[in-house]
Amino acid sequence: MLILGVETSCDETACAVVRDGREVLSSVVASQERVHAPYGGVVPELAGRAHVEEIDRVVRLALTRAGITKEDIDAVAVGNRPGLIGSLVVGVSAAKALAWALGVPLVGVDHVHAHLFSASLRDAGAEQNEDLRDDSLFPALGLVVSGGHTALYKLLSWTRVERLGGTIDDAMGEAFDKVAAILGLGHPGGVAVDALSQEVGADDRAFVFPVSRLGADSLDFSFSGLKTAVLYAVRGVPQGGTFERDAAGLSHEEKRGVAASFQRAAVRAVLLKLARAAQGNWARTLLVGGGVSANSRLRSELLAFQGAGRVLLPKKAYCVDNAAMIAGLAFHLMGEGRVDDLSLRATPTI
Ligand code: KG4
Ligand code: ZN
Repeated sequence: MLILGVETSCDETACAVVRDGREVLSSVVASQERVHAPYGGVVPELAGRAHVEEIDRVVRLALTRAGITKEDIDAVAVGNRPGLIGSLVVGVSAAKALAWALGVPLVGVDHVHAHLFSASLRDAGAEQNEDLRDDSLFPALGLVVSGGHTALYKLLSWTRVERLGGTIDDAMGEAFDKVAAILGLGHPGGVAVDALSQEVGADDRAFVFPVSRLGADSLDFSFSGLKTAVLYAVRGVPQGGTFERDAAGLSHEEKRGVAASFQRAAVRAVLLKLARAAQGNWARTLLVGGGVSANSRLRSELLAFQGAGRVLLPKKAYCVDNAAMIAGLAFHLMGEGRVDDLSLRATPTI
């Protein structure tokens, strides 16, 4: 079965073709980074407009790269929740039009749940990993760390997903982006903070930043205290609303010390909650997804994590927003008869 996936929840216009829920024939992601960079963050109105301009081209490219025509498609899947409403509606409208014109089923997919699916995608022609048979994965512990979401899940199957906890303020990727902004590294800055922290000589103990624990049993996250601690370390504690200095006064060595120390604290906070959630050794697999799962330190610490069975990390191309994860998860929803019709709505909240 060939499913065409569409994803426009934030600032990436994406389309993919996936066979039988796993084999990626094509995955096209058009980033709007250059549209939003001058504003230091995603501007919702500009994001929606850019999706409208890009969606046709991206869908055509995904079909061409997959070596198929639209008539070969068996179903159309779309990330219809959660996300920016003005962005979601573009993908949902395009997916509805395609499904209606082709006379094939339409499947609405939860974008955050789909991130958990991304580690099980494989590229067409790549070796089948027998270890990834679905019956060997569950129950699984899930971690999504992205620019908009940071949450833990218990999965009994790809479609039975229970949320265990999540951020009470900033998402992890948002904290990376804000720290990048404080250090003057541009937007989105997660990759830049990662790169600076990996430089030879970067001291991850140069600054002592707080690791949020919240309540003794809490599976929630908080990153705003850490973000403020970084701000004060770089610019001093504001007096009467004015900061003592700006990041321009920092040497390169100091900047990478800030980046590495922040990254250490942020990753520790996540590993702490993972250990709590995994207590009792109930999980056979740890499934991870979202843009921040591309982070080198987080990846190496997750791979060393004991207590939740096998650790499955997505390839870097499938960490960030993509449509292959949408088409992949849709295959399992369809297997349970969970198909939508043209009344499918774009829903901004979870
Ligand atoms: O999953 P995603 O593409 O979008 C959302 O659904 O939010 O995640 C984007 C986030 C951004 O905050 C970006 O800075 C962060 O992922 N990110 C990283 C890295 N690569 C992307 N954060 C830390 N280290 C990275 N290597
Ligand atoms: Zn995402």
